[in-house]
Amino acid sequence: MSAEAKIKALTSELKEHNYNYYVLAQPTISDRDFDRKMKELELLEQAYPMYADPNSPTKHVGGEITKNFNSVEHSTRMLSLGNTYNKDELIDFDNRVSKLIGGNNYQYTAELKFDGLAIAIRYKNGVLHQAITRGDGSKGDDVTANVKTIRSIPHQLTGEYPSDLEVRGELFIHKAAFIKMNEERARLGESLYANPRNTAAGTLKLQDSSEVAKRPLDGFMYQMLEHGGTNLDHYQSLEVMKNYGLPVDESTQLCDSINDVWEFITYWDQKRHNLSFEIDGVVIKVNSRLQQEEMGFTSKFPRWAMSYKFETERQSTRVINITYQVGRTGAVTPVANLDPVQLLGTTVKRASIHNADFISEMDIRVGDSVFVEKGGEIIPKIVDVDKSKREPNSIPTQFIQICPECSIELERPEGEAVFRCPNSTGCPPQIKGKIEHFIGRKAMDVSSLGEGKIDVLYQSGLVLRPSDLFALTYDDLLGLSKSIINETTAEERIISFKEKTVQNILEGIQTSKSQPFERVLFALGIRFVGETVAKKLAFYFKNINALMEADLEELNSVPEIGEVIAKSVRSYFALDENRAEIEQMKLHGLIFNVKEKELSSNKLENLSFVVSGVFSLFSRNELKKLIEDNGGKNVSSISKSTDFLVVGDKMGPAKKEKAEKLGIKMIDENEFSSMIAE
Ligand code: IVH
Repeated sequence: MSAEAKIKALTSELKEHNYNYYVLAQPTISDRDFDRKMKELELLEQAYPMYADPNSPTKHVGGEITKNFNSVEHSTRMLSLGNTYNKDELIDFDNRVSKLIGGNNYQYTAELKFDGLAIAIRYKNGVLHQAITRGDGSKGDDVTANVKTIRSIPHQLTGEYPSDLEVRGELFIHKAAFIKMNEERARLGESLYANPRNTAAGTLKLQDSSEVAKRPLDGFMYQMLEHGGTNLDHYQSLEVMKNYGLPVDESTQLCDSINDVWEFITYWDQKRHNLSFEIDGVVIKVNSRLQQEEMGFTSKFPRWAMSYKFETERQSTRVINITYQVGRTGAVTPVANLDPVQLLGTTVKRASIHNADFISEMDIRVGDSVFVEKGGEIIPKIVDVDKSKREPNSIPTQFIQICPECSIELERPEGEAVFRCPNSTGCPPQIKGKIEHFIGRKAMDVSSLGEGKIDVLYQSGLVLRPSDLFALTYDDLLGLSKSIINETTAEERIISFKEKTVQNILEGIQTSKSQPFERVLFALGIRFVGETVAKKLAFYFKNINALMEADLEELNSVPEIGEVIAKSVRSYFALDENRAEIEQMKLHGLIFNVKEKELSSNKLENLSFVVSGVFSLFSRNELKKLIEDNGGKNVSSISKSTDFLVVGDKMGPAKKEKAEKLGIKMIDENEFSSMIAE
């Protein structure tokens, strides 16, 4: 197949997969295969840009930088909706509708009220032309580059679309993605996002669209304008949008009466917590477009639509005490321990109370009666203190001055809300947190170790810093054990290091030594040095010595590295303990320079290999290196996308059986040699 034909075929295949995944929510290939195909298309487009489709799915990865968002006039005002909060108010709305229409001959659509931010998207001749935020309703910001990164929003419509089309809808971030982003921010010691809606709104206003692409925004369209003058009813217009390939939520229901609407509301009020995204109510619209036109608008809202807002569940409880947790970066987080209370189906025993300012502003005291809500329905938070119930002898909360873990005096850097324990190399949770971060999936990726095992290793004194992991021996580990009690279920779990576990741990640690420099740098856990920053620093400085010796000015001159990161890097390398730690890691063979890859050949391009057993011509590491040097990829375990299993002596029977079952081709080292021979 020619490059042009291959690009065409991959483009249309990937567009279809995007549609299956994001619009129909029925993917037909694995994420991994999807990513592989995407990478293949990206490489082909780079090599043959003249054949690239301007609306290629690869464009969803962003890259455009917007300095200032242009303000754009809306074609018609983007209105908000009137709110109702109970059944009576809803019935009042229905009575008004019935009066305006004059009778009962009307239907409603009931649809979910997505809790995100509104967007208007214009298509010209089927191609995504412009995306505009709601702004003040009359004009909004042009956020086209950012919206183009959202995979569910097609760059090209399908079917018989009109030449000019505007659709409106809501963009949001899924709950799981929100939690993940906050976990990542907590790991980096950054302040947390309050809820998915704010996160989505903040994301859409980022200037670097490749950053936007990393945050998984999604959306549903709920309104279609300018459809060649045909007066499609609302429900039909949703169907039509679906046919254009636009994302439209499937839960929408056509209702013959307000009672049907009420049923829809009560159903979703209960089930909303099972959705992967947040909704804050239900939107009710008169279905007929003609009837909508007859009814018109007030100065603020359409008369033919109404939103019903779910109540956020709030409970009253009592603060038993306030405890303090120390994180990996030394940040001290206060937690209010509460009398257990049921909230949205879960028992809440704790609430986040953020920092010292929050405590003093709310004047939260031990013994207080407080109201808790689920912030963004995920993290319980204290929203109010009932001061009328306060005991006369209650005392204002004093934020602790001394680290609860290592007794060192806490510091509060100027301009920061957070108290920190400065004892980064001697405070147990900071040390354990650093080791956990070090072995994490995006760092050294030692999946055979986890929080529990790290705890055992730390308690036993065997691993007090990440570099100690590389000195562990079989005899050190065998037989170690510890019982861990789950605080919520009170169940006991015994972690014990048996033969197989020990082997896996040692193997995982050994394999991690081949992680590239940028990952090792990320794994060190320098504050503000996340995955992306680590890559930028690694590729700029090429090796750790250059980075360690770089002064503030030089660090600051690296593209996209600002003052805060530069200072943090300097203070990390200013500590002798950290320098000594790096020396230890060097001795253990970790990689501290960027490998300038010079491939011997491309003979193994796009092929993935699992190497297993003992070989006579090469060592295992040599074999793996040969695979990479010839453009192939090493993977650690067999899956259906593995191309070859290179079999040595003493390979485990389980691997062989799995390869046979999946039909993976098995070759020995001689066959492998001939694959790369001239
Ligand atoms: S219809 C003229 N439908 O709620 C009708 N809005 O409180 C315009 N929203 O600004 C809106 N889900 O951002 C409509 N299914 C839905 C919605 C929805 C969420 C948002 C929208 C609107 C706000 C009004």
